Amino acid sequence: MSYFQELPSTNSYLKALPAEEITHGQLCLTDHQTKGRGQYERSWQSDARQNLTFTLLFCPSKAERFHVLTLACARAAVAQIEKQTGCPSFIKWPNDILINDKKVAGLLTEAVFNGNKPERLLVGIGLNVNQTAFAETLKGNAVSLKTESGRNIDRERFLSELLTRIEFEYTRWHKQNDELLKWINQKIIGYGEWVGLRVNGNDYGEKFKMLGVEPTGKLAVIDGEGGIKTFAHEQIRVIAD
Ligand code: BTN
Repeated sequence: MSYFQELPSTNSYLKALPAEEITHGQLCLTDHQTKGRGQYERSWQSDARQNLTFTLLFCPSKAERFHVLTLACARAAVAQIEKQTGCPSFIKWPNDILINDKKVAGLLTEAVFNGNKPERLLVGIGLNVNQTAFAETLKGNAVSLKTESGRNIDRERFLSELLTRIEFEYTRWHKQNDELLKWINQKIIGYGEWVGLRVNGNDYGEKFKMLGVEPTGKLAVIDGEGGIKTFAHEQIRVIAD
C-alpha cells in the first residue's frame, strides 16, 4: 500500500507507476487529493483529512467485463455505508453512490493497455465521509456519511472493512458468479422500473424498463414495444423523474 499525506490524484499516481512496480491488489490512499479527477473529465473535490480518496489496482487477465467490477466495488461500498451508518444507499448508473438522492461517492475506473493486452485496471473511489460543507457549484447535491447519519465516522475502520468486502467481490467477479449480478441489480436506482435514459448525451423521449446489468457489464432495457436494447456502461445515464 502507498499512503500520501497529499497527492494530486491516486488514479494518476497508479497510472504513472512503471509496470515493474505494480502488483495486483495494490492500494494508493491519500488524505488530501489536490487534483482529483471524476468521470466525464470533471474534477473531484474533497477536503483534506475528512474523507476517503483512494484507488485500487487490479491486474486481471482480461479487461472485458470490467464495468461489472466497478459496479461490484460500488455495491461493496453501498453495503459498508449501510452497515456503518444505517443509511439506505443506492447506485446511480453508471458510477455514483447516493444517500437520500444525493451524491455521497463516485467511482472512476481506468484501464491501461500494453498493446491490446490489459496491463492494469484502476478503480478510484472518492467517498465523502466527515465533510459537512460543500462547494456551491455542487448545487446542494453533495452529502457525506456524517451529514446523513449525524455521526462522525471512523475512516480507518470504514476503509479496512470496505477493502475486505472488495476483495471478496473481486473473487466473485473473477469467477463470474451470477449472484454478484443480482446483488448489484438490487441496489441500482430504477432497476425493474420505467426510467428515462440519456444515451450519448441525448435524451430519449420514451421510457425504458430497466432489466439490469448483463454479465458483460452492459445495461439491458426493454422499450415500450417490447424491444430489448443493451447499452454500454459509458454511453448511458439514467434520468431521474
Ligand atoms: C465521479 O463521481 O465523477 C468519480 C469520482 C472519482 C474520485 C476518485 S477519488 C480517488 C480517485 N482519484 C481520482 O483522481 N479520482 C478517483
